[in-house]
Amino acid sequence: MAKRVTAPAIAARKVGNGGEPLVMVTAYDYPSARMVNESGADMILVGDSLAMVVLGYDDTLSVTVDDMVHHTAAVARAQPAQLIVADLPWMSYHVSTEDTLRNAARLIRAGAGVIKLEGGQERLPMVDAIIAAEIPVMGHIGLTPQSVHAMGGFKVQGKSAESAMALIEDAKVLQAAGCFSIVLEGVPRRVADMVTASLDIPTVGIGAGPGCDGQVLVFHDLLGLQDDFLAKFVRQYATLKTDGIAALTEFVGDVRSGAFPSDAESYHIADDQADALGLYGGAT
Ligand code: KIV
Repeated sequence: MAKRVTAPAIAARKVGNGGEPLVMVTAYDYPSARMVNESGADMILVGDSLAMVVLGYDDTLSVTVDDMVHHTAAVARAQPAQLIVADLPWMSYHVSTEDTLRNAARLIRAGAGVIKLEGGQERLPMVDAIIAAEIPVMGHIGLTPQSVHAMGGFKVQGKSAESAMALIEDAKVLQAAGCFSIVLEGVPRRVADMVTASLDIPTVGIGAGPGCDGQVLVFHDLLGLQDDFLAKFVRQYATLKTDGIAALTEFVGDVRSGAFPSDAESYHIADDQADALGLYGGAT
């Protein structure tokens, strides 16, 4: 196995200090983790977007710690060189610090190197407790999908001067608590630039413009595996859903026409054994 990327190595990757931009991609199982591994990305995020792109829910709220553990373990079995970041799902870090620590530990034991959680100052006691247990924490502010009902939908955040200042304040609080990096999701690019400039730790953007210290995209979005809804910030680098449907349709046609399987795709027995079968049973 290649040497795995570490949280301290990510924390040191500030573009303003000459660092190369960070790249994080989601993955939820063994084959997707193997693909991301070969891409040379820095981090794999086992995101709670699992709920929507893999499990078919309308939002991320239905995914459980058990689901996240199951998928984090599958990603870890690919032994990727990337740092594995696992999301704490909704309500797994909202009840008590004991409960939060137990859930974070389950993700680490499943193979994650760090955990990510959504929210700013209001999550400080949980962030403190997790970091005190020696588990590195990635913050996530701006459009936080677990707050979909409180936000009134998946809406860009920090569009007013006041809410932008609150984002900067949240980012500083998370940094002071010891987070090693922060995801900025769905914020205007100039606000993301201000947040990024106000921190010593790197920001990883999604829908936050080019000024962050890195970028993250969802595997199914960037490979064109889903086309239900594409946010403005998604760039599709492949058309795997279209290509997959074309391949499946060809397979269906080949089976129905008798073109699959061919003789070369079949197993054979030796002629003498076939003859012997003929003795006993007739046709071979
Ligand atoms: O769950 C996820 O995929 C995420 C990214 C959108 C950052 O949290």
